[in-house]
Amino acid sequence: MTLTILGIESSCDDTSAAVLRDTFLLSNVMASQEVHRRYGGVIPELASRAHQQNILPVVSEALKMAGVTMADVDAIAFTRGPGLLGSLLVGTSFTKGLALATDKPIIEVNHLQGHILSHFVQVEGRDNRCPSFPFLCLLVSGGHTQIVRVDDPLHFEILGHTIDDAVGEAFDKCAKLMGLGYPGGPVVDRLAREGDETRFRFAKPNIPGLDYSFSGIKTSLLYFLRDRIAEDPDFLEKNKADLCASFQKDLIDILLKKLILATKETGIRQVAIAGGVSANSGLRNRIEAEGRKRGWTTFLPELRFTTDNAAMIAITGHYKYLAGQFATLDIAPRSRAAEYGD
Ligand code: KG4
Ligand code: ZN
Repeated sequence: MTLTILGIESSCDDTSAAVLRDTFLLSNVMASQEVHRRYGGVIPELASRAHQQNILPVVSEALKMAGVTMADVDAIAFTRGPGLLGSLLVGTSFTKGLALATDKPIIEVNHLQGHILSHFVQVEGRDNRCPSFPFLCLLVSGGHTQIVRVDDPLHFEILGHTIDDAVGEAFDKCAKLMGLGYPGGPVVDRLAREGDETRFRFAKPNIPGLDYSFSGIKTSLLYFLRDRIAEDPDFLEKNKADLCASFQKDLIDILLKKLILATKETGIRQVAIAGGVSANSGLRNRIEAEGRKRGWTTFLPELRFTTDNAAMIAITGHYKYLAGQFATLDIAPRSRAAEYGD
């Protein structure tokens, strides 16, 4: 039996739809919302409205590109949360309407589980190496920073998480303080490649166990810039690349310290990264280098699967379908993070 799943993602500011045949990707269509750039962050109401406009064309295009119709689809998987409530409502309500009209089952997906399972999306003509179980996943996005132990596609355990800001927020805040625009992560990444990462050091957190904290380092950068700019108004302009490289190095050091500890505590040597920040070139290089040094097998997602996408929702739907985990039509979105599998 082949299984065809339509995935729909609308948790933040990207509307996306994808079709998977078994674990192989047939299409993955994305409409990113440019409107937020000029406000320096995602404006929830504008995001909901843009999803409302984009969702039908995006889903139609995904089906067309996959060469299928709704008659070929076995189930519709959608993001239930976490995310912005208004954005989630668009995807959830659209899914219910489509399911009612076409008499298809629906599957709710935890967005974070989706990011992690993006490693199992297979693409024709590519090396489809994927992690074996159990593995550790460093999930790094704009809203979350976690170390997750993955025992099988549907069983996850959060070993550590941030007690305040997510690492993506720290990247975005750094860019904002330096006037680099939004979203800041990719700009910091680009500038960091030209800078000297040993030039400056910022305050590192001292948190027990496998948890993270990123609010202190953000504040440390803020005060550092304030003091230096008071001495020399051109300080920022003259040192942009070195500041980005140094700040990024500190964030990566913080991430790696706990990840290394997690591999030691669990004895697991299969290590993956996922989420928006897993696009960061410094983090990718560092994970590979540490992996070589420590005998890990490392898994870096393809760049298009690092940011929010529906392929990751469809693959999670695939595994939940096989386990018979369907949702009912009275399901409501959930904006806050819940435990995996909830
Ligand atoms: O997973 P994602 O697309 O959305 C959430 O679920 O949060 O992650 C978005 C985050 C933003 O904070 C963005 O600045 C960051 O990922 N990001 C990066 C890079 N590309 C995206 N951070 C550092 N380096 C990058 N290359
Ligand atoms: Zn995400």
